[in-house]
Amino acid sequence: MNIEIQLNEKQLKAYELLTDYTNGITEVLYGGGARGGKSWLGCLWQILRRISLPGSVGFIARREFSRLTDTTMVTFFEVLGDLGLTGYGYYRTAPSQGEPGNSYFFPNGSMIYFRYIDWDPQDPNYDRFGSYSLTDMFLDEAQEIDEKPVSVLRGRFSLLRGKNADGTEWVTIPKAMYSCNPKRNWIYNDFVKPAREGLLAKFRAFIKALPKDNPYLEPAYLENLMRADKVTVQRLVYGNFEYEDDPAVLFDFDALRDLFYNEHIEEVGGKSCSADLAMKGHDHFVIGSWTGNVCKIVLDKDYSTGREIERDLKNVMLREAIPRSLTIVDADGMGAYLESYLEGIKEFHGGNPPLDKRYQNLRAECYFKLAELVNGRRLRVICNEAQRERIIDELGALKQAHIDNDVGKLDVIKKDEWKKLLGGKSPDYADMLMMAMYFRRTKVTAGAQVSVQVRRTE
Ligand SMILES: Nc1ncnc2c1ncn2[C@@H]1O[C@H](COP(=O)(O)OP(=O)(O)O)[C@@H](O)[C@H]1O
Ligand SMILES: [Mg+2]
Repeated sequence: MNIEIQLNEKQLKAYELLTDYTNGITEVLYGGGARGGKSWLGCLWQILRRISLPGSVGFIARREFSRLTDTTMVTFFEVLGDLGLTGYGYYRTAPSQGEPGNSYFFPNGSMIYFRYIDWDPQDPNYDRFGSYSLTDMFLDEAQEIDEKPVSVLRGRFSLLRGKNADGTEWVTIPKAMYSCNPKRNWIYNDFVKPAREGLLAKFRAFIKALPKDNPYLEPAYLENLMRADKVTVQRLVYGNFEYEDDPAVLFDFDALRDLFYNEHIEEVGGKSCSADLAMKGHDHFVIGSWTGNVCKIVLDKDYSTGREIERDLKNVMLREAIPRSLTIVDADGMGAYLESYLEGIKEFHGGNPPLDKRYQNLRAECYFKLAELVNGRRLRVICNEAQRERIIDELGALKQAHIDNDVGKLDVIKKDEWKKLLGGKSPDYADMLMMAMYFRRTKVTAGAQVSVQVRRTE
C-alpha cells in the first residue's frame, strides 16, 4: 500500500518523534493553540500505526463521550477519507467492558478503542481502564483530562510486539500523544514549563503548534478568533499558558508581571516583616522585609533549624528596624516556638476569623487583599529572577473557591488543591506575601446608624 500525505512542519516534527522507536520518547505533547492540526495528526498517527503494526491496539480518547463522537471521531473518518481508506476497516458501536464506546477494526487484526475518560463517581480509581492491553494512545484535548486516568492508561501499554504478514516480528516502545490547548495543570507542570526551562524529562517532548502553523486553516477563522477577548486571543492564537480564562483565577497575569516593575511605588512608609518558616526541609524559609508596600525578599533558605530561624529573623528585624508587633510568621510552621523567643511577634492563624465577615477566614481575607493590591498595581516586590518565577507561578495558579455559589463566603482553594496545580510544590512565597496583608486589612464599619420608626396608619 502506498499512501502519500502532507504534514505541516510542526506535525512532521511530532510525527517523527512518535514513529521513531529508538529515541526513547514515550510521551509527546502537541498543541498549545486552536486549529494547529492536532486532532488530524493524532488520528493520522493512530491509523498509520495500526496499519504498520498488525494486531496492535490503539486508544483514542477525550474527556467527554459526546465531544469524542462529535469532534475527534469526525476527524478520524475525515483522515481515513484523506488517505483514500474510506471503508477500509469496519466500525462498531458497542458498549465494551461496561462502558459506552466504539471501536474501529482493521483488516490486519489491529483495532482502536474510542473512549471517554471523564471522572465517574462509580469508578473513582479508573478501574475500567485497568484491563486494557494497549500499544499506544492518543488523548485529544488532554488539558481537560485529569492526571490520574492518564497514568492508569500509561500502565496499560503491554502489547508491544506482534507478527507481520510475512511472519517476521515487530517490536515497538510505548507511545502516547496528547493534544492540548493551554491550561495550567499537569500538561503545564510536566511539559510546558520544564520545556521552557530546559528541564524536560528525556522521555517527553513538547511541540508547540499554533493556528499559524496550519496552512489548511481558513484565514477567516483566524480573523474571527483575533476579535475574541484578550484572554482567548492570548491562549488560542499565541498559545500562552500563563493566561487563564478561568474566572476563578484571582491574579491577573499582566499585573503579576508588573508586580516586579511597579516603580511608581516608592519605598516609603512603615516597616513590617512577614516570614514563611520551614523546619522540616521541604518548604522554603522566606523572609520579606516591607517598607510601605514595597517588599524585599531578604532571606530565602531551603532548610533551617529552629535556632537559625530565630537568629535570622532577629537579624533582619534589627538591621531593617522592624518592630516586633509588625512582624508576622506562620503559626503552622513554628510560630508558637518562635514566639517564646521573640516575644511580641505575630503568629498567623489562617483559620482565624476575618475582620470583614464576607470572607471565610483570615487566610481568604488576606489573599483577596493581596489580589486587590497586586491587580491594582499597588505593590512592588524586589527579588531575584528565580523568586520572581516562583511568585508568578504560585499566585497565577491560585483560585477562588466555590465560585458558582453566590451565597457562601468568599474563599480561596485549599492548600492541597493549590499544591496540586503547582506540581506538588508548596506556595511559600505566596504565603509570605499574603501574611503581610494582615497589617493592611481594612476595618469594616457598620455604616451610618439609621433609626426607623414604624407607626400604624390610623
Ligand atoms: N496535514 C493535514 N492535511 C490536510 N488537512 C489538514 C492537515 N492538518 C490539519 N488539516 C485540516 O485543518 C483543520 C484543523 O485541524 P484539526 O486537527 O481539527 O485542528 P485542531 O485539532 O488543532 O483544532 C481540519 O479541518 C483538518 O482537516
Ligand atoms: Mg481538535
